[in-house]
Amino acid sequence: MPVKAGEMSPTRSVPEDIERPPYIANGGDPIRRGDPIVKSSDVVAAMRVAGVAAGEVLDLVGAAIAPGITTDELDAVAHAAYIERGGYPSPLGYRGFPKSVCTSVNEVICHGIPDDRPMREGEIVNVDVTIFLNGVHGDTNATFAVGSLDPRSAALMRVTRECLFRGIDAVRPGAEVRAIGRAIQQHAEANDFGVVRTFCGHAIGPEFHGALSIPHYDEPRATTRLEPGMTFTIEPMITMGTWRERIWSDGWTAVTADGQRTAQYEHTMVVTDDGVEVLTPSLALPTTLEASSAR
Ligand code: MF3
Ligand code: CO
Ligand code: CO
Repeated sequence: MPVKAGEMSPTRSVPEDIERPPYIANGGDPIRRGDPIVKSSDVVAAMRVAGVAAGEVLDLVGAAIAPGITTDELDAVAHAAYIERGGYPSPLGYRGFPKSVCTSVNEVICHGIPDDRPMREGEIVNVDVTIFLNGVHGDTNATFAVGSLDPRSAALMRVTRECLFRGIDAVRPGAEVRAIGRAIQQHAEANDFGVVRTFCGHAIGPEFHGALSIPHYDEPRATTRLEPGMTFTIEPMITMGTWRERIWSDGWTAVTADGQRTAQYEHTMVVTDDGVEVLTPSLALPTTLEASSAR
């Protein structure tokens, strides 16, 4: 049964004393401030703290997932968890997004809006958390099973996690951005899955979405060379069927064009002198493939 839009709850509020990201004072429109792609060690240190907080929020939401729970209830759990950590829910008001996390069920690729739809046994749901804390964003997501899954959905989740870590393994100084997507696409297609093209990883820091784009497929134009101090996300969206998407009339919800399921996992990271440091550790999505397993 295709996912359908439900009813949204009223807008959640954030205490006045919590610092807002700059786009909030600009009607949700991100101001292109041209942040450098290579961050100072102070910014990276702040991102370490924001990244841990984002992972904690993701785990609190993950622990609440069960048959019968609505995606709005997950949004409420996340919203409280951001505030407890002194952070602002970056999605809330970003380009008009109405909620504090994205919840993307079954064939929803990304940017699903939490509503009153209860999750059912055997479904999969991606929860995408971004916190603004100490002047920087931490962005992470994971796909969760609702109860027990059919084998193909379980394989989709496993391969998607493997794709994320193959992408992370390609990150080192001197490598081209292209190497990340090449590694991801090879592994997805070797498993007869597709790679979404429209949505990419991105530079991140004081800006939610910085100027560098990280394709998850082999993109010959992605020739930027990685340097220590660059901070960005890798967040592959892997599909059972077509990689093409449609966008609902809400302007946000992206679904697979053929209605087949899709999964996603996301980490925020920094390029180091000899490789990469993952900044968004969590139980749902540890920093290595070995430590990760389906939930
Ligand atoms: N967190 C998403 C990402 O990974 C972006 C969500 S934008 C929102 O880049 F407005 F939908 F929150
Ligand atoms: Co992201
Ligand atoms: Co995200």
